[in-house]
Amino acid sequence: MPQPCTYVIFGATGNLSRMKLMPALYHLEEAGKFSEQTTIMLLGRRAWDREQCISKVREWVTDKARGGLNQETFERFASRLHYVRGDLNDASLYAGLRQQIEEGNDFPKNIAFYMAIRPAEFGVVVENLSLSHLLIEEGGWRRVVIEKPFGYDLESAQALQARISRYLKEDQLYRIDHYLGKGTVQNVLVFRFANVMMEPLWNRNYIDHIQITHSESLGVGSRAAFYDGAGAMRDMIQSHLLQLLTLVTMEPPVSMEAEALRDEKVKVLKSVRSIPHSAVHAHAFRAQYTDGTIGGEKVNGYLQEEGVPEASVTETYAALKLYIDNWRWRGVPIYLRTGKRMAESQSMVSICFRHPPQQFFRDTRVEPMRQNWVLLGIQPCECLRVEMTVKEPGLEMRTRQTILDASLRNADEAHTEAYEELLLDIIEGDRSLFLRYDEVEYAWRVVDPVLQTWSMERDFIHTYQAGTWGPQESQRLFEKEEHRWRHSLDPEQ
Ligand code: BG6
Repeated sequence: MPQPCTYVIFGATGNLSRMKLMPALYHLEEAGKFSEQTTIMLLGRRAWDREQCISKVREWVTDKARGGLNQETFERFASRLHYVRGDLNDASLYAGLRQQIEEGNDFPKNIAFYMAIRPAEFGVVVENLSLSHLLIEEGGWRRVVIEKPFGYDLESAQALQARISRYLKEDQLYRIDHYLGKGTVQNVLVFRFANVMMEPLWNRNYIDHIQITHSESLGVGSRAAFYDGAGAMRDMIQSHLLQLLTLVTMEPPVSMEAEALRDEKVKVLKSVRSIPHSAVHAHAFRAQYTDGTIGGEKVNGYLQEEGVPEASVTETYAALKLYIDNWRWRGVPIYLRTGKRMAESQSMVSICFRHPPQQFFRDTRVEPMRQNWVLLGIQPCECLRVEMTVKEPGLEMRTRQTILDASLRNADEAHTEAYEELLLDIIEGDRSLFLRYDEVEYAWRVVDPVLQTWSMERDFIHTYQAGTWGPQESQRLFEKEEHRWRHSLDPEQ
């Protein structure tokens, strides 16, 4: 049973808290993961009392509760909730918080401060927590949880780090990349390091290229204010997709302990060949969606979305070709791609193996031999497939593609959300699924030259119609002409 703790949530009435944190905490309650004394304190600007807060939380949780809201579980969960109204810039908020926590007996002295607020506010909150002595680890641990984006580019990430590290030790900081909480993402490690079969093949001698895709059919929605200043490269590639890349390509760590794991991830990021400004267009591609049709419905183009400036050249699609210059991967192109308003919502890693060294069966009716693929479906299909060529039954020598399927989830096994795992890890002090500062810094180093070049090119951006797989022109990133973006987990016949 995890230790008792006080979860203090800044920005508790905001989107992240409603959509992800509260439902995840409720599910942890349901799974019996909280010690009896654990308390959750919600901080927001709204003039709510405790009853109003509980009734709002009930609404948010009802929407997301698996199998419907369980009244008894919710009552237990609600009894842990407290609401505090305040302004993040007001020092008296923190003094009051301290008084409440330190003097009352209801609040465990292990405290996790969760920053579900705008990144620009991280600094001021951490500073105030420190000034009110709330970060001193006396009588219990003090942990601070921050969410991406960690800065806007390398320089601002360094500045943020300099500011918060004045008040916090690295081991008090939990930097969330929620992708790492996804079961299928963790399965990448299990697949690679708990099975011996693939390891001898997992290198430049056998692998032709790797594709990592995260596509969404949703548009920018109500997030234009944030998104237009970020774009797909910052929003998805710098964080989630580079994290996936490290798990797929890292060396086996000394152990699965947090530091050992993160050491190996950083080594990968350090080995990514840097992209010179002169080569940005050969390595990166950006585009923006125009109006189109998704699921039979007409949808707006990015420029017509609410809150998007009319001449915006922010990319809603980004693709990047990288090389990892180490012994294992030198020369293997790795393609990362993400987009909003694409044909389907799907995340997957596709690993394409080389052609067999000789084309046998040349004089038969067998088509040219296909390459083998290993496909790791992250969402919505959580699966692991190996594609192979087999002979079709019958008298003729014909072949077809078939799959070995090691799906991750059986129909009767529950799905857990990434935030459940991460919120529990924070209480347990397990930092293996959180980012260390050097990971953040090296990830920025990978994308910074591209972002700098794009920020200077304000006149033109390629477009793609909403509901498609993105612009054809992005094909130009491929090293070989026969390469294609892999869109589907089904074998391509
Ligand atoms: C977030 C991005 O970090 O990840 C969003 O800011 C994106 O733009 C989301 O939609 C994707 O994550 P998930 O778990 O919803 O697939």
